[in-house]
Amino acid sequence: MLWAAVDNGIYIPNLCAIRRALEPYGGCRLCFVEIEGRSAPVTACTEPVAEGIVVNTQGAKARRLARTALELLLASHPVDCAHCAKNRSCELQKLCSFLGVKLNTRRFRKLVHNYPIDSSCPQFVYDPNKCVLCGKCVWVCRERFGIGVLGFAHRGFDRIVTTFEDKPIAESGCHVCNDCIKVCPVGSLVLKESSKAGAPEDEQCRKPARRRG
Ligand code: FES
Repeated sequence: MLWAAVDNGIYIPNLCAIRRALEPYGGCRLCFVEIEGRSAPVTACTEPVAEGIVVNTQGAKARRLARTALELLLASHPVDCAHCAKNRSCELQKLCSFLGVKLNTRRFRKLVHNYPIDSSCPQFVYDPNKCVLCGKCVWVCRERFGIGVLGFAHRGFDRIVTTFEDKPIAESGCHVCNDCIKVCPVGSLVLKESSKAGAPEDEQCRKPARRRG
């Protein structure tokens, strides 16, 4: 239903939906809508379109759930937009503006991770602290190469997108196709400044050169 709405010019907040995916992931819980005759809102990305269905994309209950989901995301997201490469093109900024939520909302206690930033790859940087666990990078990586370099590990607050055995990206077998960077909705996976003009396609990520002496 999500894509039927989008194709007809009706925006429904979403973060984890991938049009090409056969199965919706349904992880972000932002795309709530209300369907006439149903007692509770449903997620639009998991709900098929049906004949005669009446959908309210702006119902109060659905909006409340979407706002809560966004505020929970922001509670564990380091909000430092001025110093973020994704400033002004970040989906969180757009969602906040659409749903009327402040980026620095304090409804929930702020609890951010302090993971090391992985800049081992010559092409891009991965900052897991900014990851919103939408799963798009995991999906595109798997779609393109069969067995993805990136995957989910752990559960709950410790859930993270990482590589096999938590290796640095440069040692993970990453092909640097940059698909993950294209789909990352926030500033978690971003090109390095030096790579912005003409990043090579499918170049195997090299190990960083060892320092001498
Ligand atoms: S877009 Fe529906 S749950 Fe994320």
